[in-house]
Amino acid sequence: MPVYANYAATSPALSRTVVKELCEYLGGTHLNAGRNFEGLEAGAIALRARKAIAGLFGLADPLRVAFTSGATQALNMAINGLVVEGCHVLATSVEHNAAARPLEALRKNGVIELDWLQCAADGSLDAGTLRKALKKNTRLLVMSHASNVLGTILPVTECFNIAREHGVFTVLDAAQTAGVLPFAAGDSCDVLVFAGHKGLGGLAGSGGLVLGEAACRETRQWMSGGTGSVSHSLDMPGFMPDRFEPGTQNTIGMLGLAVSVEEILRAGVEKVRERERGLTARFLSGLTAIKGVRPCGTLDPDRCVSVVSLVVEGRGAGEVSRLLFEKDGIITRSGLHCSPLAHRTCGTFPDGTVRFSFGRGTTEKEIDTALDALSRQARHPPGGQPL
Ligand SMILES: Cc1ncc(COP(=O)(O)O)c(C=O)c1O
Repeated sequence: MPVYANYAATSPALSRTVVKELCEYLGGTHLNAGRNFEGLEAGAIALRARKAIAGLFGLADPLRVAFTSGATQALNMAINGLVVEGCHVLATSVEHNAAARPLEALRKNGVIELDWLQCAADGSLDAGTLRKALKKNTRLLVMSHASNVLGTILPVTECFNIAREHGVFTVLDAAQTAGVLPFAAGDSCDVLVFAGHKGLGGLAGSGGLVLGEAACRETRQWMSGGTGSVSHSLDMPGFMPDRFEPGTQNTIGMLGLAVSVEEILRAGVEKVRERERGLTARFLSGLTAIKGVRPCGTLDPDRCVSVVSLVVEGRGAGEVSRLLFEKDGIITRSGLHCSPLAHRTCGTFPDGTVRFSFGRGTTEKEIDTALDALSRQARHPPGGQPL
């Protein structure tokens, strides 16, 4: 059996309950919401998914949740919808390209001024860095909740409080933390972005954003089209969630998310966190005993999610990752993980790292298998025959 250690990229399997409900739905009629009387079921599924996501992030109003094709689309919507010509934007030096590329495109096109908040080599950020970087025209702060390369959790609540004092809009990229780290969006950030196919256990091609009251008003919609509502008008409806959901929606993705998030809520996000923290602690403590392996992020499991990047001294990340798979059936991800910024931050650009990431299916035995395989790789002399 292969050992899957690439949960930061995607969750490899849907839960049985998700598969069962999806099969039942797909075996029947599936119409689009808001377009016909029979489509009421699709509308009910969308509402069920909004309620589940609202429950996860402690929101009173499920209509503040809008669905997208994933975190990338949601980040593009939030960033492009909130900036104004000539404004200053801040983002951290560990952002994923899903945020970094739209920001950089706006900077190159002369729309925004952009500064990166420099994180330490282990991915941590001192909130004081934000205070120093704020300018009169700073309008937006974009922050990952946890780096997808280093796993390090960023001080988002502290930073968002500072941002709020200065009237700065805040966008939280929770792609790596939704469903695995308790977080009440409430009033703490203006926009929270989530991916459906990682810790939330939903389908690829699902995700979305949760908007606070001011963000609902101020975010310009990036795409217009039919919503099945206010159809007499050539303008998009002003109300949520229609304002951000033109066209036929991904009802199957929403159903997957609804069922999966309901399961997570029944289990309790705190319990999920406790379990994954334990697995990460076991892995990190094992790593410190392996000579020749250098973990790149924090060694404190309280300060990271279950994402660990490492370097095997004298060996290429791609080679290590390939051998881990070929010799031991361990699936990791090597390279730059769509975040050149994070690798520059921790000094592993352009070679990259081997990233292990764990999730709901990971067992302690798999952690030990991974440690054992890594210690054999570390003993293998550079350029010599693989063990
Ligand atoms: C931190 C972070 N943000 C954004 C994304 C993009 O997510 P999606 O695949 O849902 O577009 C990822 C995916 O790896 C990520 O790790």
